[in-house]
Amino acid sequence: MCGIVGYIGEHQATDVLLNGLEKLEYRGYDSAGIALVTGRGTEQFKVKGRIDALRQRVDGQSQSTMGIGHTRWATHGAPNETNAHPHQSESGRFTLVHNGVIENYQALKEDYLQDVDLVSSTDTEIIVQLVEQISKKHEQTAAAFREAISILEGSYAIAMIDQEDSGTLYVAKNKSPLLIGIGDGFNVVASDAMATLKETDQYVEIEDQEIVFVQRHHVTIEKLDGTLVNRIPYTAEIDMTDIEKGTYPHFMLKEIDEQPIVMRNIINAYQNEHDELRLEPEIREAMTQCDRIYIIACGTSYHAGLVGKTFLEKLARIPIEVHVASEFSYNMPLLSEKPLFIFISQSGETADSRAVLVKVKEMGHQALTITNVSGSTLSREADYTLHLHAGPEIAVASTKAYTAQIAVLAILAVDTATKKDITLGFNPLQELAIAANAMEMLTDQKAVFEDLAEAYLDVSRNAFFIGRGTDYYVALEAALKLKEISYIQAGGFAGGELKHGTIALIEEGTPVIALSTQKHVNYAIRGNVQEVAARGANTMVISTKGLDEETDAFVLPEVHELLTPLVSVVTMQLIAYYAALYRGCDVDKPRNLAKSVTVE
Ligand code: AGP
Ligand code: GLU
Repeated sequence: MCGIVGYIGEHQATDVLLNGLEKLEYRGYDSAGIALVTGRGTEQFKVKGRIDALRQRVDGQSQSTMGIGHTRWATHGAPNETNAHPHQSESGRFTLVHNGVIENYQALKEDYLQDVDLVSSTDTEIIVQLVEQISKKHEQTAAAFREAISILEGSYAIAMIDQEDSGTLYVAKNKSPLLIGIGDGFNVVASDAMATLKETDQYVEIEDQEIVFVQRHHVTIEKLDGTLVNRIPYTAEIDMTDIEKGTYPHFMLKEIDEQPIVMRNIINAYQNEHDELRLEPEIREAMTQCDRIYIIACGTSYHAGLVGKTFLEKLARIPIEVHVASEFSYNMPLLSEKPLFIFISQSGETADSRAVLVKVKEMGHQALTITNVSGSTLSREADYTLHLHAGPEIAVASTKAYTAQIAVLAILAVDTATKKDITLGFNPLQELAIAANAMEMLTDQKAVFEDLAEAYLDVSRNAFFIGRGTDYYVALEAALKLKEISYIQAGGFAGGELKHGTIALIEEGTPVIALSTQKHVNYAIRGNVQEVAARGANTMVISTKGLDEETDAFVLPEVHELLTPLVSVVTMQLIAYYAALYRGCDVDKPRNLAKSVTVE
């Protein structure tokens, strides 16, 4: 959600900023802008819409070796050119970009800015006007910046330019992601290393409530009270080819296809030379010592958590509660005596999940994060991390991260069971390898799913997905996938629940897609399919070998029953993808959505 790029160095800033913002497009945004310090002062270019349009707008004559750029996902004020960042102080001296939400912006406006004419409706403009007001009593901009930052409440990643000091970028962070990239003769600022990987692979993390003065040859990190912080840069291990589409028309399709490879990466990462599972002893200890696990996540990661509950309860015999992070924050259930919290987050930056992590850490509980981004906030702040090894996921619709989450949760469940001397009678890594092959068989048959999408969803306004047990959890994910990229109103339901209300919506031709991969509920879900078919539904059944019937639309290759979500979801992802294509939707960047939801 939103992106920031900053550059200070010897070369032209414009290209670094625009290319960087392009790399951050996947996060979701509605407007964009850059500010450059040129011989003519600080020049700003802003557009509502895409970076392409911003590129057209930027004046080729603007020579500058320092600048800041932003993609905005509006929280306060409409997504238009006036509200797009950067924002400037009244005199034009200070120019600033911000990601996050300033919770006390109304109070700050009343206390400090009564006499200032605000131009935009954003909370962000308050910050830059505040710096200017406070700078009137300070000689040094650094002091004014520190004072302004210290009275902000909420989340922020900030990069600011002072026109009277073209040697420094002023940077601050709290709860929103921001990194400093270290170069030779230049330095950069970025929400995500992907944005500036072309410039450097050396990055320094900024922690909450730190401010940073970024100069061409120096980076100074301080706490808000002025204490100096020494932090060693790390090497960002992202391959440029991972963040390019290559010959694929969309990142989503590329990422669907990558799923078998991701499974194999996970197998390699979590097995030792004796082909046994390899997990940190501390994680094993935490898993075997807790009396209940609380899985906290949002969206697709929440759906993966539901599948994980089945693994952990069935295999490791630990009671599990799965909670949507934004609900848990405000309605915390009664906790057990020795709880362990597992946070599942592809990005590791989701604000709702982080709010819970902060709370439970304050309460003294242990936390494990399962994430695709090592070094992310949720990873840094939890006691332990399990990595997804999925490679960067660019499409807003999560695909390979979901299956990676399920695979890692399966490994965690099996490992815990083994430590508890529970005999399982199967080799999880072998079963994952079989699932990886099965996924490949599906991605090799794309035309089948393209046809199914056309036959069932081309003109339909709504769609229902049903299943029982883990199939129900996959139905929830299938519905989310379809609605987020095709805008078809979709819902996932437990098969048995339909007749308690939802069946009223079934009319002639309503698409109902049923999953049947679980032997013990096959009979029951087939009954539910009959119920809706009798009322005119256009039913499609995806079953698995051994449970299949002649009229089924597709029969999945056989995998271990617990791991069927790994394969059934691939069919759902492909159907959603093609349904979105038929409707001419922007598959990788669906409207209103952001990849990394860094505001509450
Ligand atoms: C999935 O397609 C969505 N983009 C969304 O539900 C996502 O899974 C959710 O925002 C959680 O993100 P996280 O895994 O990065 O925490
Ligand atoms: N709250 C700010 C705004 O609405 C920043 C939003 C963002 O993070 O993009 O402009």
